[in-house]
Amino acid sequence: MRKLPAIKVKQPAAVDCVVGKPENHESVFKHVKGQAIYIDDQLEMSNQLHAAVGISQIAHGRIKKLDLTAVYKAEGVIAVVTAKDVPGQLDIGPVFHGDKLLAKDIVEYYGQPLFAVAACSHQQAWQAVKLAQIEYEPIPPILEVWHALEQKSFIRPSHVMQRGNVTLAINDAPHQITGQINIGGQEHFYLEGQIAYAIPSEDEGVLVYSSSQHPSEIQKVVAEVLNIPFSLVTVEVRRLGGGFGGKESQAAPWACLAALLARVTRQPVKLRLNRDDDMEMTGKRHPFVNSYRIGFDDNGRILGAEFTLNANCGYSPDLSDAVVDRAMFHVDNAYYLDQVKIVGNRCKTNLASNTAFRGFGSPQGMITMEAAIDDIARYLGKDPLVIRKINFYDSKSTHRNITPYYQVVEQNILPTLINQLEQSSDYQWRRIQLRKFNVENKILKKGLSLTPVKFGISFNVKHLNQAGALIHIYTDGSIHLNHGGTEMGQGLLTKVAQIVAEEFKVDSSNVYISATRTDKVPNASATAASSGTDLNGKAAQNAAKIIKKRLIEFASQYFSVNKNEIGFVDNYLKVGSRLILFTELIQLAYVNRVSLSATGYYRTPKIYYDREKSAGRPFFYFANGAAVSEVIVDCLTGEYKVLRVDVLHDVGRSINPAIDIGQIEGGFVQGMGWLTTEELVWNDQGQLLTTGPATYKIPTVGDMPVDFRVQLFADAPNPENTIYHSKAVGEPPLMLAISVWAAIRDAISSLANYSISPRLDTPATPERVLQAIEQQCTASEVGL
Ligand code: MTE
Ligand code: HPA
Ligand code: MOS
Repeated sequence: MRKLPAIKVKQPAAVDCVVGKPENHESVFKHVKGQAIYIDDQLEMSNQLHAAVGISQIAHGRIKKLDLTAVYKAEGVIAVVTAKDVPGQLDIGPVFHGDKLLAKDIVEYYGQPLFAVAACSHQQAWQAVKLAQIEYEPIPPILEVWHALEQKSFIRPSHVMQRGNVTLAINDAPHQITGQINIGGQEHFYLEGQIAYAIPSEDEGVLVYSSSQHPSEIQKVVAEVLNIPFSLVTVEVRRLGGGFGGKESQAAPWACLAALLARVTRQPVKLRLNRDDDMEMTGKRHPFVNSYRIGFDDNGRILGAEFTLNANCGYSPDLSDAVVDRAMFHVDNAYYLDQVKIVGNRCKTNLASNTAFRGFGSPQGMITMEAAIDDIARYLGKDPLVIRKINFYDSKSTHRNITPYYQVVEQNILPTLINQLEQSSDYQWRRIQLRKFNVENKILKKGLSLTPVKFGISFNVKHLNQAGALIHIYTDGSIHLNHGGTEMGQGLLTKVAQIVAEEFKVDSSNVYISATRTDKVPNASATAASSGTDLNGKAAQNAAKIIKKRLIEFASQYFSVNKNEIGFVDNYLKVGSRLILFTELIQLAYVNRVSLSATGYYRTPKIYYDREKSAGRPFFYFANGAAVSEVIVDCLTGEYKVLRVDVLHDVGRSINPAIDIGQIEGGFVQGMGWLTTEELVWNDQGQLLTTGPATYKIPTVGDMPVDFRVQLFADAPNPENTIYHSKAVGEPPLMLAISVWAAIRDAISSLANYSISPRLDTPATPERVLQAIEQQCTASEVGL
């Protein structure tokens, strides 16, 4: 007879943290107290070196002379490397070739890295790089989209998505409009700039700490640059001080340069970009120049639509092909387009290579459609919300539920969600009040707009939709959790810990979060496309299930109890009528030689896409939301204020409502910054002039909507089998801010009694708003 643990008489207390609870971010107190360790906070070694990067001072040209004698001689300098010193591959392009680690022979943008130095201090390194003697033979740069189009300068071939005969549909429609919108880029302005720290290890290997959303790619490119097997490179990421897409591919050069200098010097090397260098050297959100032509009927129903999307990709491919594809996938936004043609051009210019940024091209596609909808409304003299509703996808229809890429919009919750928001925000009543206000006030004009978001969830490159996780349970019952996702403030590690705690029914404080490491979980995708929790949450759940199964099988044999009478509850294992403390169970399992470690894996089901035919199901599902924004504009100065914002957003069944609401608020405000105050300015030689917060204005607390109401759409579990039927939340809310831009346009159009749609490029700075007001007054022959 076995000696069995005592029967617990006390009823277990409910575990305090499970899926669905508004758990704090795992690092919240450490963030506030300054105890969260970022790379620059890590202990330095006694032989620590610091790196700096020498850059091109022209946008385009041939390098005639690169004399680094003075750099070598500068105080504290230990090593200098150029393209010639790269033992392996020079190209670190994430998908296509074209992204050089260091320029060789030719420079293609102002700020392009040419060489790197390692010195005894950060200051010495950055002082030294200024001493380079460089001569160029300049080549005229291409800076703007129109110029690239004229010169047929593209980083990748154009792509077209088409259904039906668009020209005929538009021409035969009762009404037509055309329009254009120039959409500005956006600096990521992560609070922690780009940084990497490389420590040489045995056999020419290297350990790299990188502020990267994509540790596995850092591992790959570092290995390729150093010409060593991937296995000799380990990359660790505990947390990033923000990424927002800017560290999906573009954390790589700094890691490679630190690793290269560490190889050359055999000393640890840290490379941190100063804010201005970071802004000059790295790519941003793609500026787009988009145009549209729409045919519609008397009710405003769209019969044919043609869009041309021209992205300013900068000098290299980077991720731009996928970004422009995603823009094309999102021009329809929430609307059915029967006959449609979408052209996506990838313009090559002599600017830093533009890259991923929250939304990944979708915002630039979506805003184009929303601009067109507002134009139709003004043409027909109707409220834009009426036009939006009449064009929504209709999941009950047999054909008005098919996207331009033939994915069926299966459960379209937007019409319901919008009706709810229209009620809760008092849209109709406020519209009446606002019209009255605008009649009574000559100088101050109010604007109101409700815009929807439908955002496709999945990487639009199929193989990236996979993830792995690793769980160990130690003999004290503490659970060590690791997966391929990175924490950049979005709360991924908190949510995945909750998922694992829920699986074992233990307190989430019992689940120990660990740094993402390439030697724990291999071949991980970037933490991007909002899919971090969807992918890693499922992988971690699968790992937990494997260990659970072993524990249940063990307990069943050990206690001779049927498996279906065994289950995890509130920090215990219930075995028949017996309760065994989780920690006791683990100790028992260990001495009985049960493996307490497992890997888990997940791949997204159902997705496929044929790019040649522009048809398939690129997205597992859609995330939805809508926002109503109200603004007040001063028509004498062009200044404006956001008075009130009501958001209703769909996160399915929330894993953590506190974190989800935080993502919605943060995403919204970041989107508002993009569309209103954040203006990138280059001179006519391609030099970025806005290289810090003094000239580049990100939103501050004073720019927050005066009245900001955010609600989660209730009782709407994801119909797909996602983790706890939740929905991804990272990127979609950024596009809710389109309602702010549309509300400003609404206010301006009130000057001509809503009969003319003003052209309003973004960011809609007070200067641009004032210009639009002037044009509106001239066109309608009304004075202020
Ligand atoms: N939230 C914070 N605080 N910091 C960030 O860098 N990045 C955004 C979003 N939310 C970001 C953020 C972007 S671009 C993406 S793709 C997702 O988070 C990535 O994380 P997730 O997939 O875990 O949501
Ligand atoms: N989002 C972010 N990164 C990506 C994507 C995407 O949709 N596709 C490929 N890389
Ligand atoms: Mo986010 S732009 O997919 O990193």
